[in-house]
Amino acid sequence: MEFMKLNNGVEIPMLGFGVFQIAPENTKSAVDQAIRAGYRLIDTAQAYGNEAQVGEAVANSGIPREKFFLVTKIWITNAGYEKAKASIERSLKRLQTDYIDLMLIHQPFGDNYGTYRAMEDACKEGKLRAIGLSNFFTDRYLDISNFMEIKPAVDQMEVHVFDQQTELRGAAEKYNTKLMAWSCLAQGRNGLFTDPILTKIGKKYGKTPAQVNLRFLTQSGVVAIPRSTNAQRVKENIDIFDFALSTDDIEEIKKMDLDKSQFVVHQSREFVESMLDGANQLMASGMEI
Ligand SMILES: NC(=O)c1ccc[n+]([C@@H]2O[C@H](COP(=O)([O-])OP(=O)(O)OC[C@H]3O[C@@H](n4cnc5c(N)ncnc54)[C@H](OP(=O)(O)O)[C@@H]3O)[C@@H](O)[C@H]2O)c1
Repeated sequence: MEFMKLNNGVEIPMLGFGVFQIAPENTKSAVDQAIRAGYRLIDTAQAYGNEAQVGEAVANSGIPREKFFLVTKIWITNAGYEKAKASIERSLKRLQTDYIDLMLIHQPFGDNYGTYRAMEDACKEGKLRAIGLSNFFTDRYLDISNFMEIKPAVDQMEVHVFDQQTELRGAAEKYNTKLMAWSCLAQGRNGLFTDPILTKIGKKYGKTPAQVNLRFLTQSGVVAIPRSTNAQRVKENIDIFDFALSTDDIEEIKKMDLDKSQFVVHQSREFVESMLDGANQLMASGMEI
């Protein structure tokens, strides 16, 4: 495993395991499998509904807590100082830990400033080792970073060969914020797993297109958190630290950038309204996450 230092000196593994869309009843076994394969960073979220199962897998792994790097995210319905503060306590409890390595604001909606202040205070109390953002594009990233005391350590964004986030990467240098890549395999969209350029480059190193894509990210300082529930692919995705892409490979992959999400247009009315409608329904139901 390779590591890098965040802007507060905390060390983060360059590769982790994501548990988005893994049903709670399948999460413990999926995380157990990832831990056996050598993953120590686990990325979950309040909204995934599986923090407790991640906590169970880590607590029962027989591996000391300090060897893990746990990442979770505050959902929109918990936005605002008091609600966010209470939700951090719930996440700590579900994860069976007295500190979280990295906590992020999941989406840039609601009272983010209040949420961020709650994370800053929890950071000062030692409950969070690092704090940051997710889905904050350049405008929102620069805005919140400018006004907050603790600068975001991480912005977790969709990043893969087809959406390389070049503009945000440049902006993030201002506060030495690191990018973490969600859907770092683009969930296979746009033919990533059989892409001819990635296949050609991979052949030189005996690696698959998925591995070349993940190596491209980590080699350029982006943390990747692929998800798989398949034992062989779980191993494949972490087996990327025994080769290095050449400068020519990197230049060729840079040309694959379409500068476009493979999933949603984040600033579109449709996407924003779907996020807000979902949050409103959840709040109306009285369900606390
Ligand atoms: N912050 C956010 O808003 C946000 C949004 C989305 C995701 N995330 C985080 O990012 C993590 C990763 O993103 P993701 O879960 O959307 O998807 P992903 O990691 O891009 O792709 C996962 C899919 O690819 C398949 N796969 C995995 N490795 C493969 C390989 N080597 N070859 C072929 N197929 C492979 C998996 O199927 P099998 O299981 O069958 O292998 C699964 O269907 C999430 O789990 C979550 O932690 C965060």
